[in-house]
Amino acid sequence: MKTIIGNWKMHLNTSESSLLVSRIVDHTKPTDSVEVVLCPSAQAIYPVKKELDSLKATSKFRLGIQNVYFVDEGAYTGEISAEQVKDLVDYAIVGHSERRIHFGERDEEIAKKVSACLRASITPVLCVGERLDDRHEGHSEQVVRDQLNVDLSEITAAEAGKTLIAYEPIWAIGTGEFADPEEVKKMADVIKETCEDLFDKTGKDVSVLYGGSVDGDNAKPYLDLDNIDGLLVGGSSVNYEQFSKIVELAH
Ligand code: PGA
Repeated sequence: MKTIIGNWKMHLNTSESSLLVSRIVDHTKPTDSVEVVLCPSAQAIYPVKKELDSLKATSKFRLGIQNVYFVDEGAYTGEISAEQVKDLVDYAIVGHSERRIHFGERDEEIAKKVSACLRASITPVLCVGERLDDRHEGHSEQVVRDQLNVDLSEITAAEAGKTLIAYEPIWAIGTGEFADPEEVKKMADVIKETCEDLFDKTGKDVSVLYGGSVDGDNAKPYLDLDNIDGLLVGGSSVNYEQFSKIVELAH
């Protein structure tokens, strides 16, 4: 089964989000072999859920949130916990590079977020990936290993089996530059090996997605890789024609 996740980032107001989801429902056909997860910005999750209900499409799409806080409840103005959204979403993106870069999220904090999601029975989509400098210096694999070693340090092997890892090289996000599928294949092996080191046999079965400037024209070679279980799509996920094309290719 392939999982295609749309990260709408900080785009679209509430009514625009509802309109986009209705277009996606019209043009996209998730099946048993393709799971489609939509991650609107937080204020639009409930309206999008309502729109899916009214279109009788709730069972065909999953919803996700783009970030959560790691404490379940308390005086943390402006934050949203996994616990608070567990009745709304099945997935949460955690440790996205935009959160690491713009909001200073560190791996120790990300590890707590991964654990908080699992505590709330939400599937974390943990994002890892190297910067352009790391890549030029030949350190990509080590950077990703180091991230995983900390980001997955607060969970058990059984929980790791319920976690998705998205390989998102930072230089490929929102830039129009995308990674060579052969390099993605190699990195997916590195991710699986690292998870196996951490969690023995369960680690090898962890699901790995690719993300970074994926669109309807370049998605196929990634989907054809036997160690890639899906895609995390940013810019192209708010374009229903592009997004439905990507989902179609995943069948
Ligand atoms: P992009 O974003 O597809 O716009 O490069 C991917 C992501 O941030 O998940």
